Amino acid sequence: MTNYRHQTVMQVRANRDITLPQLQHLLATDNEDEVKELFAQAREVADSVYGKKVFLRGLIEISSHCKNDCLYCGLRRSQTDAVRYRLTDKEILDSCAKGYRLGFRTFVLQGGEDAWFDDTRMVRIVGEIRRNYTDCAITLSLGERSAESYQRLFDAGANRYLLRHETADAAHYARLHPSDMSFNNRMQCLETLKRIGYQVGCGFMVGSPFQTVETIYKDLQFIRTFQPHMVGIGPFIPAHGTPFAGEPQGSVETTLRLLSIIRLLHPHVLLPATTALGTLHPIGRERGIMAGANVVMPNLSPLEHRKDYAIYDNKICTGDEAAECRNCTEYRMRAIGYETVVERGDYKSA
Ligand code: 5AD
Ligand code: FES
Repeated sequence: MTNYRHQTVMQVRANRDITLPQLQHLLATDNEDEVKELFAQAREVADSVYGKKVFLRGLIEISSHCKNDCLYCGLRRSQTDAVRYRLTDKEILDSCAKGYRLGFRTFVLQGGEDAWFDDTRMVRIVGEIRRNYTDCAITLSLGERSAESYQRLFDAGANRYLLRHETADAAHYARLHPSDMSFNNRMQCLETLKRIGYQVGCGFMVGSPFQTVETIYKDLQFIRTFQPHMVGIGPFIPAHGTPFAGEPQGSVETTLRLLSIIRLLHPHVLLPATTALGTLHPIGRERGIMAGANVVMPNLSPLEHRKDYAIYDNKICTGDEAAECRNCTEYRMRAIGYETVVERGDYKSA
């Protein structure tokens, strides 16, 4: 007899859709068998598309300066004790060279919204990476920019762009951000990036203040309709000195369940097991993979700046050399039966 309690998981998988009551149920259930089944079904779907492979992305954190004041972020402009740094062109290119030797075929240039990295500078850097590494994907994660800027960076050789939508509920968005940031503009940026031809990643924090099952439901429906190539989710982790410093951290369990649900809704999506997940649990990233994720993003930033890219407190991997992170990741993935591969790891369309 089919266990009636596992019907929800099978329905979500078959329909590639979820209802609000189903979501409420899957996030609330304390039936361990059912949760195991959710993870197993999601893992099976990921394996059917991408096999027993985990894709690596080398993360280069190019600037800790940010003009924004997001209430949750340790690098917000009001954070007076944040250490601000910018990598030079040479430091960025050296990080890529090191990454290439270590087997990375995707470089992610991530930073706060920093006017120093204007279009001229970014086009120069992206162009240089593109010429040196024709077989690599270049991913940018530099926040909101103009359509013209996104186009110029694409023309210079960038292939992918990560811009978390943060929440698909406008009222929730307004409680996480100051009034000079606009929900509509963020959504518009995502549309623009897709229209230009980027592989686009959206995403949100799990357990951010004021998040409800209803706002998560909107996030999932947004993912279903927008069909991003990537989705980045990780638990909210309070950052000292921010307005949300005293708020509770997000749940690892809920993050894992949501990873699985996203995999079932969108089988082809590239889904990282994030550093935030690894920060809240010693084998959080491994558990993320076992729940349906298929990407990890080891840190390639120069060691001397690592600890200063402090989006949240107690971030892992801040004291490790790039090679150590690379090897550690490979070892961790192998321990759960997955190979980290020397490939770009592009989105596989259906
Ligand atoms: N905890 C977890 N994730 C955070 N981010 C920003 N601040 C935090 C925090 N305190 C996430 C946001 C942002 C990404 C770069 O990091 O979702 O888009
Ligand atoms: Fe960075 Fe393990 S992945 S030290």
